[in-house]
Amino acid sequence: TERTLVLVKPDGVARGLVGEVITRLERKGLRLVAAELRTLSRETAETHYAEHSERPFFGSLVEFITGGPLMALVVEGERAIEAFRALAGATDPVKAAPGTIRGDFALEVQNNIVHGSDSPESAAREVKLFFPDLG
Ligand code: GTP
Ligand code: MG
Repeated sequence: TERTLVLVKPDGVARGLVGEVITRLERKGLRLVAAELRTLSRETAETHYAEHSERPFFGSLVEFITGGPLMALVVEGERAIEAFRALAGATDPVKAAPGTIRGDFALEVQNNIVHGSDSPESAAREVKLFFPDLG
């Protein structure tokens, strides 16, 4: 079993898609371990997306992710990292398959509803960043 960090990004919260995302991951068989609605500080956002700090869209991404409350989730299950990335679909929602979260609900590459950790190393780092007290 494995843990991953899932975010319902501010666009997903604003559009009322928190329940939809949780329903989909629970239906898949993944389980919630932690959940908190919060607005990220610039510092936390920059740390979370540090791998993209040299990309031209970094400033815009940080503005977006700090622009309103997001729902942070820790999700657990067999191959949870890969399983949630499959539910989320491709980063670019236009290329994401229908039936995936991004494929069904998003149109713009930045405003793509959800985040999911992309490797065991990222998951460990991100879970610790968002939920430092989690056992
Ligand atoms: P995350 O789960 O959010 O990390 O998405 P990802 O792993 O599918 O994509 P990646 O880590 O490459 O990019 C992180 C986030 O940056 C994406 O989810 C988008 O919100 C945003 N992003 C990626 N590419 C672009 C881009 O070309 N332009 C803009 N404005 N945002 C982008
Ligand atoms: Mg990523």
